[in-house]
Amino acid sequence: MRRLDQLLSSLGYCTRREAEAVVKGGQVSINGIVATRSDQRADPHQVTLDGKPLEAPDGLLAVLHKPLGYVCTHADGEGPTIYELLPHRWLARNPAVTSAGRLDKDTSGLILITDIGALVHRFTSPKAEVEKIYEVTVDHALEPSLIETFASGTVMLRGEERPCLPAKLVIHSATTASLTITEGRYHQVRRMFASQGWHVEALHRSRFGDYTLGDLKEGQWRILEKP
Ligand code: URA
Repeated sequence: MRRLDQLLSSLGYCTRREAEAVVKGGQVSINGIVATRSDQRADPHQVTLDGKPLEAPDGLLAVLHKPLGYVCTHADGEGPTIYELLPHRWLARNPAVTSAGRLDKDTSGLILITDIGALVHRFTSPKAEVEKIYEVTVDHALEPSLIETFASGTVMLRGEERPCLPAKLVIHSATTASLTITEGRYHQVRRMFASQGWHVEALHRSRFGDYTLGDLKEGQWRILEKP
C-alpha cells in the first residue's frame, strides 16, 4: 500500500505537491472509486489516473530503437540523447530510467531502458554472458578465415590484457555480416574488426538476449513484460 502522492510522484506523473491538486480534481480513483485525499493509501495496481491504470508501478522495462547520431549519456553537450526520445515522465520517475549498457553515437539499434537496477546488472554483468547480435558493414571484402578467428577466443584488443571471448560471425555478403558477442567492452565490435584490419562503416544491434526490435521504427520504443 502506497500513499497516492508518493506513488504519483515516484512514477513521474507530478510532484508530491501537485498530486494534491490532481487528487482533489477527481482525476485519481482507487478500485473505481474517486479518491479525495492525496495521503490516502492504495495498492498501486488498483489506482487509475484519468481512467487509465498507472504505468509500470513495479518497475519499467522498455526497448528503444536508437537512431544514429544519438548518445546514451544523460549529460548534455554531446548531441541529442536517447532520453529525448522517451516520455518525459520516465526521467521524472524515482529511480529514473537508464539504459542497460550503451551504444555508440554512430551505432543504431536495440537498447534496453529500465528503472530496475537489478535488471541493469543482470543484463550487463560479464558473468551473465548475454548474447548481443550486431549487423556489421565493413570497408572491404570479408575473409571466411575471420569466422574461425573470432570464434577462437584469442582476439586481443589494443590496450587490453584478456582476449575477447569467442564470438560468432555469420558472413552475409562481401562486406556485410552478423556478429554475436557475449561481452560489452568499449567499442567492442569496431575494435574486434579493427584488430583484424577491417574498418566498420555501419553498425546496428538487432538483438539483445531474447529481445528483438520487431517492427519498431527508429526513435520508437515499446514497454516489455519484465522477465
Ligand atoms: N560495439 C561497438 O563498437 N559499438 C557499439 O555501439 C556496440 C558494440
